Amino acid sequence: SSPLRLGIAGLGTVGAGVIRLLRANADLLSARAGRPLEVVAVSARDRTRDRGVDVSALRWYENAADLVSDPDVDVVVELIGGAEGTARAVVEAALKAGKPVVTANKALLALHGSTLAQLSAANNAPLLFEAAVAGGIPAIKTVREGLAADRLLRVGGILNGTCNYILTVMRETGKDFATVLKDAQDLGYAEADPSTDVDGLDAAHKLTILAGLAFGQPVAFDSVHVEGIRRIGAIDQTFARALGYRIKLLGLASMTDAGLQARVTPCLVPQNAPLAQVDGVFNAVVAEGEFVGRIMIEGRGAGAGPTASAVTADLVDIARGHTIAVWGVQTNTQPALRACPLSSG
Ligand code: NDP
Ligand code: HSE
Repeated sequence: SSPLRLGIAGLGTVGAGVIRLLRANADLLSARAGRPLEVVAVSARDRTRDRGVDVSALRWYENAADLVSDPDVDVVVELIGGAEGTARAVVEAALKAGKPVVTANKALLALHGSTLAQLSAANNAPLLFEAAVAGGIPAIKTVREGLAADRLLRVGGILNGTCNYILTVMRETGKDFATVLKDAQDLGYAEADPSTDVDGLDAAHKLTILAGLAFGQPVAFDSVHVEGIRRIGAIDQTFARALGYRIKLLGLASMTDAGLQARVTPCLVPQNAPLAQVDGVFNAVVAEGEFVGRIMIEGRGAGAGPTASAVTADLVDIARGHTIAVWGVQTNTQPALRACPLSSG
């Protein structure tokens, strides 16, 4: 059968990883998708940069908008990043053109998910974003589809690989913050601007998306309480250990009698608790439903391989004819849900 033709905008850690995975698993993917997945066009800024994958045979666009309007591109894969600018323009233009979009861009979805959901529905163009939350963990599918029958009470977890890596390595080696952050950047875990990670914003973007899925309605990002890990030092880790705890940056959203509460903060987690055992670049997504009780899934939350795995799974879904609405409900016109101020305790 005819190939599904892909245009990939952004060839950094994730974009190059997706090309590598598509090539390595071409036969397996073709069998599972029911048709070959073929990259026909790419876009990035610097044509001379060595990306570790050969893109010389692919159509190259300096302007990502031209990739979207290429008639040979069936699906647009946005891996540029950022809530505004080119990434947002590419996703909006593709949806308006009726082209399915796969993106790993949590900042874009957290800030503009509602508008994009409406564009997706109005133009009958799927918008998939499995890689936007917790890297290789199938968090979106789990919350939106796997838990579709249940009323969810809480969702969240360890949602930033860079922060969890920094906290873990600082705790285990005593290395300083700046050195470990540099390691996380070299490993491809951090955002282009790493303050997005260490100030808690990236975890808050992911929590906004997860809470929107869990509670069936987009959540207003600016209502999420956010604290990062910059102020956590060796002394905090020492006291936490002495008291039997580990420090984790957690994002948690709960539906309370007062309404939605959503926060990202460094927390003391009892060292024998399952969440405390999730170390390094690993993330954990927890959810609690009335019928299912509590679940936790764990896996690598950042890096080329895990993220490429999630992006490519979305491409398989599109090849198979995926039709699920962005937030899992067919109407996307509700106003965004605002989290209320935090209660004590
Ligand atoms: P990188 O910074 O490594 O790559 C970004 C890519 O976008 C680069 O290839 C860059 O081009 C290209 N780019 C930048 N501006 C433009 C533009 N105007 N037009 C075309 N291309 C452009 O980012 P990542 O690969 O790490 O992240 C990509 C997305 O995936 C982000 O949304 C990120 O949040 C998300 N993500 C990242 C994960 C990770 O572990 N890294 C995990 C999950 C999600 P050039 O190479 O020429 O500079
Ligand atoms: N910078 C992000 C993180 C990438 O460290 O978790 C994965 O979303």
